[in-house]
Amino acid sequence: MVFAAAQKPTPTQPGPSPAAIRDLASQRNAVILAHYYQDDAIQDVADFIGDSLELARKAASTTADVIVFCGVHFMAETAKILNPGKTVLLPDLAAGCSLADACPADAFAAFRAEHPDHIAVSYINCSAAVKANSDLICTSSNAVDLVKQLPADRPILFGPDENLGRWVQAQSGRQLTLWPGSCQVHVAFSEQALLQLKLEHPDAEVLAHPECQQHLLDLADFIGSTSKLLHRAEESPANSFIVLTEPGILHQMRLKVPGKQFFEVPGADGCSCNACPYMRLNTLEKLWQCLDRLEPEIVMDEELRLKALAPIERMLAMSP
Ligand code: 13P
Ligand code: SF4
Repeated sequence: MVFAAAQKPTPTQPGPSPAAIRDLASQRNAVILAHYYQDDAIQDVADFIGDSLELARKAASTTADVIVFCGVHFMAETAKILNPGKTVLLPDLAAGCSLADACPADAFAAFRAEHPDHIAVSYINCSAAVKANSDLICTSSNAVDLVKQLPADRPILFGPDENLGRWVQAQSGRQLTLWPGSCQVHVAFSEQALLQLKLEHPDAEVLAHPECQQHLLDLADFIGSTSKLLHRAEESPANSFIVLTEPGILHQMRLKVPGKQFFEVPGADGCSCNACPYMRLNTLEKLWQCLDRLEPEIVMDEELRLKALAPIERMLAMSP
């Protein structure tokens, strides 16, 4: 049962303890979904943690009345596209994404118009308006597999991450016309720091997200989505890992394989720009507050939602 914001009492002493959050979530019949880049405390309180594909699948199958998406805006928006009848909350509405922000819908439409014969494959890290103008959505987990399934005689346009696109191109053997966008976090890793870590830990395996730049991917032993990196850490015979993605993932790695060692790679000059500033806007306090007030809520125009739904459903149907 969902309570309208105006009907519910305001508690005198709001407490954002994990127990209070769990209690409030069950009162609201809410499911808390969290991406691996969330703060450890948010991951610990979530019902489900996953990569973009797993979270979209979870959002598509939940029976909860309320979905609290501890991630960024495009993720919560995807959950809303899949669940128009549910209340979808994002603890901080300002949690955007540099990839989505750098691909405005009108510029993307112009890009498509320049390539009218191309199949448009868009990474899920984009706005609903860009999804609505795409033929197929993919995530870093399924991009290679989906591109391989496309008709061999059709050219393909890929956006908005050119680093992921280049990697998909190499893995799939298909030529892609790339939108020139990148993730501000994955382009910030310092190659010098990575080389230093490799010197200090010569037996460590380097795990990298495909949003990293080519010169870093060239130094990686394994490349994959956040979930795939986590599974690799579990299954690999290596005992230590240098991890080239947002360091939030290290929390699950350490929980799943406590006997192994994990090293994050800093940004240039040791800056902490390897942490996603958008993902980290969500806090336990904001999570508690949004469950309490049932806002900020993702709202969407129905015509736009239906247009954006088609390429997402295509992705879900084509994904192994
Ligand atoms: P994953 O789909 O691998 O979880 O990636 C999401 C993301 O935003 C990476 O920067
Ligand atoms: Fe976007 Fe990069 Fe943050 Fe992922 S890590 S949400 S791609 S800015």
